[in-house]
Amino acid sequence: MKLNKVDSLKGEITVPGDKSISHRAVMFGSLANGETVIRNFLMGADCLSTVSCFRKMGVAIEVGDEQVTVQGKGIDGLKEPEEVLDTGNSGTTTRLILGILAGLPFHTVLTGDESIAKRPMARVTEPLRQMGAKIEGRANGQFTPLSLRGGDLKGISYHSPMSSAQVKSSILLAGLLAKGETTSVTEPEKSRDHTERMLKAFGADLEEDGLAVSIKGGQSLTGIEIHVPGDISSAAFFLAAGAIVPDSIITLKNVGMNPTRTGMIEVLQAMGADLEIRYDEASLQAEPMADLTIKTSSLKGIDISGDLIPRLIDEIPIIALMATQAEGTTVIRNAEELKVKETNRIDTVVNELKKLGADIEPADDGMIIRGKSRLSGPASVKSHGDHRIGMMLAVASCITEGGLTLLESEAVNVSYPDFFHHLQQLSK
Ligand code: S3P
Repeated sequence: MKLNKVDSLKGEITVPGDKSISHRAVMFGSLANGETVIRNFLMGADCLSTVSCFRKMGVAIEVGDEQVTVQGKGIDGLKEPEEVLDTGNSGTTTRLILGILAGLPFHTVLTGDESIAKRPMARVTEPLRQMGAKIEGRANGQFTPLSLRGGDLKGISYHSPMSSAQVKSSILLAGLLAKGETTSVTEPEKSRDHTERMLKAFGADLEEDGLAVSIKGGQSLTGIEIHVPGDISSAAFFLAAGAIVPDSIITLKNVGMNPTRTGMIEVLQAMGADLEIRYDEASLQAEPMADLTIKTSSLKGIDISGDLIPRLIDEIPIIALMATQAEGTTVIRNAEELKVKETNRIDTVVNELKKLGADIEPADDGMIIRGKSRLSGPASVKSHGDHRIGMMLAVASCITEGGLTLLESEAVNVSYPDFFHHLQQLSK
């Protein structure tokens, strides 16, 4: 796809529904008693992989234009699938469904695409084995394909070595299915808490104490109506674009502002961005939302590390691009988890931005970016099949002299099928 530099970005858009919340709504809706109605569901490839896996376990899920309706089967109602469950490109589907399958008394085989096959699964298969799940798989269960026989779990008290909402959620879901016992997960820093918030909305009793979350097994869930807020990780691309493209003003409507996800907002503020936040007072219960307006800004480099990292982990590719347009140096540390995302995002971000002339170096656990650089093409850059790398490079094209050619641009469909349409709509 050929993408050209733009003069400005102006207008208002509504970004698609949150990916993490959409996955969980289908999963918990399937395990609940009664109907769950999900509005503003993300119709991206990843969330549709979750729908397809639960349909194979006998759950009736209707995907309409406006909403998704799940006829829940209850925690004992899912059936052994006749086919392999294919989680596509989705780490969230793979790791969370493993927690559910670990608690169900039947056999399943799970596989995904080439990128999933490289992503570490021992971080969930090990604790799930400790709970009693029988898991076999490539490299002794470290990678897909995996096969499981679940059921008869016992509760554990698990100290996770990494701050990962996928690990935390997987173990908590297995804990929910471990009849009668309590399971607790403690993590080094707080990761996104959509599972905790949504399980409570479905009627489960969960206890949170600092960095520990516990759940008692055997509780039943009751179907609910959910309005999925806009995905802040998708909004991030247009927040950065508005800040770095000259003469721009962009408003993003109904963006999810869960405090475990707003690291990007803090970074924009610390870099000096001209950002206005208007909270939607009616949304302040389960998942807060706000309208955001960003204008072209003079940015300065900052240090990003520590407990901020889990709150912006998916935004680091676009933050790196923003940092190329900031005065001074931006240092990103403690972000080794980037190496095990859809691609090794330290390598893909550094290598692709270098092709445009950015001053960026990799570090063991992050990267160092010196600004401000003039990005220039014409160049050929590649998403490497990673949706967030694809979108970051498309935003880079807006300020690249001579434009660029983006290879494997279709990767954006994983989380933001309308991305190029929205970019075109804003481009002046
Ligand atoms: C997610 C958690 C994060 C994030 C991913 C979605 C989730 O992964 O990067 O895009 O929905 O729980 P980790 O749990 O591996 O940090």
